Amino acid sequence: ITVSVTTRDGRTKDLTAIAGRSLMENLRSGGIEEILALCGGCCSCATCHVYVDDQWLTAMPPMSEDEDDLLDTSGAREANSRLSCQIPVTPELHGLAVTVAPED
Ligand code: FES
Repeated sequence: ITVSVTTRDGRTKDLTAIAGRSLMENLRSGGIEEILALCGGCCSCATCHVYVDDQWLTAMPPMSEDEDDLLDTSGAREANSRLSCQIPVTPELHGLAVTVAPED
């Protein structure tokens, strides 16, 4: 499963992601250290914030109220914002493209 990630320096990197793990875990294990994921994936830190490419928005799982509330605390929230720890990687997401959100 290939995921394309654009980091804060504007570079784009393709990662091989493993299904059954969250997008956050896959980004971290793929060396994207800008994704701090301070809370370890329990939806309480918002340091795993990414922007999902518009064409992939419909493929995303629905957003929980917790995720929505946490994103609201971010000054960098956009319409395509998601917390990557809340997105399980599935084979259907092959080709997914995301951008790391700016530091808040
Ligand atoms: Fe903390 Fe996603 S890792 S909210």
